[in-house]
Amino acid sequence: MRAKGSKRIAGVGTSIFTEITALAVQHQAVNLGQGFPDFPAPDFVKEAAARHIRDDRNQYAPSAGLPRLRRALADDWRRIAPGGPDVDPETDITVGSGATELLHDAILATIDPGDEVIVFEPSYDAYGPDVAMAGGVLRPVPLLPPDWRFDLATLAAAFGPRTRALILNTPHNPTGKVFRRDELEAIAALCARHDVLIVSDEVYAEIVFDARHLPIASLPEMFERTITIGSMGKTFSVTGWKVGWAIAPAPLSAAVRAVHQFVTFTNSAPFQEALADVLPIAARDGSYDRLRDDYRRRRDLLARILDAAGLPTLPIGGAYFLLTDVGHLGTGGDVGFCRRLVTEVGVAAIPTSVFYADPASAPPLARFCFAKKDQTLQAAAERFARAPGLTAPSRSHQNS
Ligand SMILES: Cc1ncc(COP(=O)(O)O)c(C=O)c1O
Repeated sequence: MRAKGSKRIAGVGTSIFTEITALAVQHQAVNLGQGFPDFPAPDFVKEAAARHIRDDRNQYAPSAGLPRLRRALADDWRRIAPGGPDVDPETDITVGSGATELLHDAILATIDPGDEVIVFEPSYDAYGPDVAMAGGVLRPVPLLPPDWRFDLATLAAAFGPRTRALILNTPHNPTGKVFRRDELEAIAALCARHDVLIVSDEVYAEIVFDARHLPIASLPEMFERTITIGSMGKTFSVTGWKVGWAIAPAPLSAAVRAVHQFVTFTNSAPFQEALADVLPIAARDGSYDRLRDDYRRRRDLLARILDAAGLPTLPIGGAYFLLTDVGHLGTGGDVGFCRRLVTEVGVAAIPTSVFYADPASAPPLARFCFAKKDQTLQAAAERFARAPGLTAPSRSHQNS
């Protein structure tokens, strides 16, 4: 027996998230590493799911998703993308097991071995392995700190005859960048000129602080070449429910559905029912404004705590992470800093070099999640206050 994995997964190892989470448990650290809310989900969301479980909506949903959920998503799309074309719930929407599954489905459905896929770096950790599993080749284009712009000439140069797709993520994890209209238009023009598809990961669409979220599929002629991916996990604080969706024109949706059919076939029926109930309510009862206000407040609280600990943060436009530069805080880079932070201070954060294909090219930043109860954030503040040494600049830096 040859007990080893395939070549396809050779580069896919245990993630830093697993390592930091294990260290956080071992050291009873305050976990600001992993991106999930530790506060309760809204009651109307939980009650909807409980009701459907009690009412025995507990058997397989159709593979593409419950028809009433697809209709609700099509209606909601008009709110999210007011300028864009209407979507057909019959043919243009696929529901699956969170954005994670739909990203995998979308990439496997569209990338052939040897195809090149452009990603902005830093990039969410699933894109690289998804592209690798499809046999594709990643072409990273850097986003440049502190405001995470990209250089248009560098982006243009990344397009070539083998480029098949570009993966976009706005609002962006881990930087909190919300792509501006002019940036999206520049990306759209290049994708149209080179006949390139866009996989647009928009799971933080409702967590934007200043500008409005703009789906690239709503720009002229972009719907035809875009697979837009959403998830209820972040918006309704139910990351464990794993209900996501992909919106794309019929031919692309048919390709996504072909993969989805044999990856999971379908996902939890009662949670799909719950989302179908919740979407129209949230669209009219101010839920999204409350969500944004709430996250603004949590963002500012964590920023104050980190600032007081000597870790000033970079400005963000959306999502629920703050970044701080740790380059001057001793050796070992961001990975070394986060390991020491969790073991010596008792606060878990994620080093952002793991979001780069070549970690050596990454700026040394640590990512802190503020989707946490005030109590959790205050507990982190207390840990920082008890162990101030780590976040004070190293002696060599002070002298320089
Ligand atoms: C950018 C981004 N995409 C996708 C996901 C995964 O979403 P889901 O939980 O719906 O699979 C996450 C979760 O952290 C994310 O940050």
